Amino acid sequence: PAKKVNKKLAGSALMQHPELVEHILTAVVEAVDVPVTLKTRTGWNPNHKNGIEIARIAERCGIQALAVHGRTRACMYKGEAEYNTIRAIKEAISIPVIANGDITSPEQAAHVLKYTGADAIMIGRGAQGNPWIFKQIQHFLEHGEHLQVPPLEEVAHTVVEHVKALHQFYGEYKGVRIARKHVGWYLNERPNGREFRQAFNGIEEAEQQINTLEHYFLSL
Ligand SMILES: Cc1cc2nc3c(=O)[nH]c(=O)nc-3n(C[C@H](O)[C@H](O)[C@H](O)COP(=O)(O)O)c2cc1C
Repeated sequence: PAKKVNKKLAGSALMQHPELVEHILTAVVEAVDVPVTLKTRTGWNPNHKNGIEIARIAERCGIQALAVHGRTRACMYKGEAEYNTIRAIKEAISIPVIANGDITSPEQAAHVLKYTGADAIMIGRGAQGNPWIFKQIQHFLEHGEHLQVPPLEEVAHTVVEHVKALHQFYGEYKGVRIARKHVGWYLNERPNGREFRQAFNGIEEAEQQINTLEHYFLSL
């Protein structure tokens, strides 16, 4: 929904132009040998929820699976995702439908799967700072009970390795900055998380970020 994306008529802005969607999907499906999937919102604003129309076009054009975020473009990330339109889309087409939006817990995952009848779910922000969410949901769906929270050693190892990988991938300058927001998500609800983050956000060096994190987890 971002302005810089939509002003180029990309992203969810495209939902206003179903004929163009059809052109693009047909061209892409014809051009490649791999299965093509699509992700949409439910429409471009609450008065123009044409998600079903777009879903039917997608199916007709040979799209192999459709992910739907339960918000319109105009909704940005405000309010709560709604699953009625996703359910209606699932009923309207036969290709697999992947439900998306505000799934942040195993209970919510089970609810969305049941309510929408979707074939799968997609998780975005719920995985930020909690990459265990996929395993937690899988376990809950299979056994009806919660997986134990990951032991502190595992959390520490995951955070440190993640931050090291960010440094390596983005280089020190960018990596250090990107690491701040991930560490914020990881430590959101940990003891002294806020104080730690304030200090952590002032660090400019990769090595010092790692040392500080290791020290923090040891203190826990
Ligand atoms: C930082 C960020 C970047 C995103 N980039 C894209 C993108 O490039 N394409 C897309 O279809 N959706 C993108 N999304 C939207 C997500 O895929 C997803 O539809 C949305 O966050 C709702 O799911 P969630 O509540 O599980 O996060 C992005 C979301 C976030 C938070």
